[in-house]
Amino acid sequence: MTAQKQARSNCEMRAQDRHIVIAIDGPAASGKSSVARELAGRLGFVYVNSGAMYRAVTWDILRRGIDPRDHARIDNYLKRARIVCDLQNNESRILINDIDPAEHLRDDNVNNSVSLVSSVLRLRQILVEKMRYYVRDYDLVMEGRDIGSVVFPDTPFKFYIDALPDVRLRRRAAEGQRDEIANRDHADSSRRASPLVIAKDAEVIDTSNLSIQGVVSKIAARLRKKGLRVAGPREARQPLL
Ligand code: DC
Repeated sequence: MTAQKQARSNCEMRAQDRHIVIAIDGPAASGKSSVARELAGRLGFVYVNSGAMYRAVTWDILRRGIDPRDHARIDNYLKRARIVCDLQNNESRILINDIDPAEHLRDDNVNNSVSLVSSVLRLRQILVEKMRYYVRDYDLVMEGRDIGSVVFPDTPFKFYIDALPDVRLRRRAAEGQRDEIANRDHADSSRRASPLVIAKDAEVIDTSNLSIQGVVSKIAARLRKKGLRVAGPREARQPLL
């Protein structure tokens, strides 16, 4: 490792020592977002949805008529695009050239192309760097595909949540979405750059027969064992008198 790389890696480790990261990875429609958001609320941590970052860039690429398979054009686009990741109400938000594309992130064309776009190495480098910025200032619950394996490999808090394929399909359909999750899972797991994998020290949770609160309770129990303080379910919490 070069001195420069070592210095960078120490700096990342120091940043990670100062703030806590709970990594939640898993395939499409496994329940990651709902679980991560609820858990972040209970812990009082910031919630970061890394998939939304890849979706936002995909949306912008598509609306500019760039072919999501054309890595050279995407690299070129990335040289000019102004991608800003900040916070709104304790949750990550992404602005592209000052536009917030939040309402388009689940559009059918974004669902269909996001796996292609997220396999572009330069894009992954840019977004991973932005994800790591959050930990300089905040404790985080971050969800995605490679959070425990690549973005924050040193965090001791890693979870991989999964559900049976037909359960995941039903969840997407219930949300009124058309999302070819089997295709996305295949693309996300087989790509060369940071594929979806179960980090070796991650705890795997099957959510097929669990409610969101059920999954969060399991994770909370684990975290308490590791010394973190986690509040009870948010709806049930009474204001302090
Ligand atoms: O979590 P999601 O379904 O919104 O993610 C959308 C896509 O983004 C997913 O199919 C692959 C990509 N992604 C990724 O490559 N790495 C991440 N950490 C998060 C998402």
